[in-house]
Amino acid sequence: MATQLPDFMLIFVISCLGFISLCKPILGFIKWVWVMFLRPPKNLKHHYGSWAIVTGCTDGIGKALAFQLASKGLNLVLVGRNPLKLVATTDAILENFGAQVGTRNVVIDLAKTSGEEISKTMEDAIEGLDIGVLVNNAGLAYEGARFLHEVDSEVAESIIKVNIVAATWITKAVVPIMAKKKKGAIVNVGSGSYGGFCSYPLYTIYAATKAYLTMFSRSINLEYKKIGIDIQCQVPLFVATKMTKFKTSSLFIPSAEMFSKASLRWVGHDEHLCVPYWPHSLQCFVLNALPDSLKDPYIFHYFLGMRKRMLLKDSKKFRTKVNNNPTNAM
Ligand SMILES: NC(=O)c1ccc[n+]([C@@H]2O[C@H](COP(=O)([O-])OP(=O)(O)OC[C@H]3O[C@@H](n4cnc5c(N)ncnc54)[C@H](OP(=O)(O)O)[C@@H]3O)[C@@H](O)[C@H]2O)c1
Repeated sequence: MATQLPDFMLIFVISCLGFISLCKPILGFIKWVWVMFLRPPKNLKHHYGSWAIVTGCTDGIGKALAFQLASKGLNLVLVGRNPLKLVATTDAILENFGAQVGTRNVVIDLAKTSGEEISKTMEDAIEGLDIGVLVNNAGLAYEGARFLHEVDSEVAESIIKVNIVAATWITKAVVPIMAKKKKGAIVNVGSGSYGGFCSYPLYTIYAATKAYLTMFSRSINLEYKKIGIDIQCQVPLFVATKMTKFKTSSLFIPSAEMFSKASLRWVGHDEHLCVPYWPHSLQCFVLNALPDSLKDPYIFHYFLGMRKRMLLKDSKKFRTKVNNNPTNAM
């Protein structure tokens, strides 16, 4: 009898530990299903205000997000560098959503303008508007995988300016307006390359700018959450856009429209960092489960292969150009 009691206690404790360790992933899965598919999106206009700012709205994810926001009845401040593309985007939005949506265009090259100037331009552009949502989406990456020393200096500077400086200064211009109203939502479009899942060699500068955005969002979310501003970094993996050059979409490489629909479901919710599109979230789950010692060499090898193919293509293009140049035959 005396030996039976400790045995029973041991089995009871082990069973409890087993139950608890089983509960954690089950609860995690239930939460994942809730936030991905069932949780109702916030009514952004009602919660935060009637105008949304979208940077980099003339293509890809930014353009799709602008359409999604317009479909929810928000007026738009559209920020882009190319006046023709900006007008085309505005026309398309007005054609689709008509008089229910107001628009204001801001032409600014975020790579060629100082932070302070960007801030001032934005302050002037949004004066008097009930700004509820800011989407810092504009982003740049380099054309192909390359070592740090191979990145063109001007390109490197533009990436840092658009991805870091512009996002920071636009946020700096908008936060006081939101703080005054005690409400607002800010979405910074980050990237799966930010370092949380794996390294991102040969795209180092781009990945590092996204790491900045992740920490920027996390920290200012804490600074302003208490006064009603919800700040979030959303993480896409591959999306079929001009940036990635994927021409067709698939389950794991969604179109900008597919991604933007998922994106809006998360705006204003508690997560300061999120992967809004569910197949991307599955990919991140798998990536997180693998050890760095396995992921890092594989990713490096994969990008080295990309770089090799890019160099080969460039040299073929160069040779064709030389052969087609009539002056070379002389
Ligand atoms: N696509 C992906 O797989 C992926 C994955 C992770 C993260 N992201 C992030 O998602 C965001 C959108 O990317 P995307 O794939 O939609 O790229 P995209 O199709 O190349 O669109 C980028 C947008 O940013 C604008 N932009 C670029 N440089 C600018 C500048 N100097 N001044 C003002 N606007 C500028 C572009 O304007 P123009 O129309 O004039 O070129 C365009 O509207 C970026 O922050 C990117 O880092 C994308």
